[in-house]
Amino acid sequence: MRAASDVASIRAIDGRKVLIVGGAGYIGSVLTSHLLDSGYQVRCADKLVYGHGLSVVPHLNRPGYEFINTDLAEPTQFSKLLDGVTDVVLLAGLVGDPVTKNFPDAAARVNDQGHDTMIRLLDGRGLNRVVFISTCSNYGLIEGDQLADENFELKPLSLYAQSKVAVENKLLALKGQVDYTPVILRFATAFGLSPRMRFDLTISEFTRAMALGEDLLVFDAHTWRPYCHVRDFSELIRRSIEAPVKRVAFEVFNAGGETNNNTKQMIVDSILEQLPEARVRYQEHGSDPRNYRVNFSKVREHLFFTPRYTVADGIRELINAINQGMFHDIAQPTSFFGNWEPKV
Ligand SMILES: NC(=O)c1ccc[n+]([C@@H]2O[C@H](COP(=O)([O-])OP(=O)(O)OC[C@H]3O[C@@H](n4cnc5c(N)ncnc54)[C@H](O)[C@@H]3O)[C@@H](O)[C@H]2O)c1
Repeated sequence: MRAASDVASIRAIDGRKVLIVGGAGYIGSVLTSHLLDSGYQVRCADKLVYGHGLSVVPHLNRPGYEFINTDLAEPTQFSKLLDGVTDVVLLAGLVGDPVTKNFPDAAARVNDQGHDTMIRLLDGRGLNRVVFISTCSNYGLIEGDQLADENFELKPLSLYAQSKVAVENKLLALKGQVDYTPVILRFATAFGLSPRMRFDLTISEFTRAMALGEDLLVFDAHTWRPYCHVRDFSELIRRSIEAPVKRVAFEVFNAGGETNNNTKQMIVDSILEQLPEARVRYQEHGSDPRNYRVNFSKVREHLFFTPRYTVADGIRELINAINQGMFHDIAQPTSFFGNWEPKV
């Protein structure tokens, strides 16, 4: 109880306006609802690189919401976005290993140079919190059964994770030099429904294929990764904005919960419990060697965060949505449903 009130008691959100860079994305559009529901004003800045403008439609008429189609890597445009803002959440980018491998120049422009520009422009504005969303992919490949805490060695295997580590390091090096409080959240792999749905993430990819009766081929079924629901991530970001400065300033948190550390086999088994007729084949030595289990005790102890939703919950809600015809056009995965071909 003490812990919960410690976070809740500092809620002074009247007049707080959060700039969500990448707020039209898979996580950003769910975060937008959560912050608006919690009383914040939200300015969403997003370039809609997958043509996913529909994801902002549910918010357009909500009081306190504003959408601006803009490119984070354009300094003049980004400066203007900061006017009247109290807090910033940095979610935008080209997200994931495949898209950054296929479009390395565009990825460098946004994930590296664009972030350098934003970090430079954030200072001197009296901002409260700047939340940077990083990734547990930074841990790369962990041999044996060790759990990575925030001090564990980083082994970013992709351009995507290398950029995340670089931004983390730049933010942490600013201690004592900037007037805002950065917080870094290393997100687990996301699952759950969103207005900008992605079917290129393990749980939604597997569930989609098995629900559509496709022959799913699973590589390296024994490999571990942590997962977390988009609604849980949204609550964690809210807590990171509201927590007392001393709890979060220049801190890195693994974002998720141990119960959702799963192997691919465990995910398949969860789906099979709900879709027993589904077909799965297995193969070793796929192209993605990532294998990491993560320790989430810091986020639990400092921000009192444990996820509400399990992997099985996420699978259930997605199967229901597919069965109700909500994703009638996912048989061919279009860019709209994943990070395949950005307009860059
Ligand atoms: N989804 C996951 O499993 C996961 C896991 C770990 C970390 N993260 C991090 O969470 C954040 C959000 O991921 P997501 O899953 O919502 O991805 P997403 O691709 O749905 O969202 C990214 C958003 O950034 C926008 N964007 C891209 N380039 C831009 C530019 N130049 N200017 C302005 N906007 C631009 C895109 O249009 C998109 O709306 C990312 O930083 C990602 O690295 C995601």
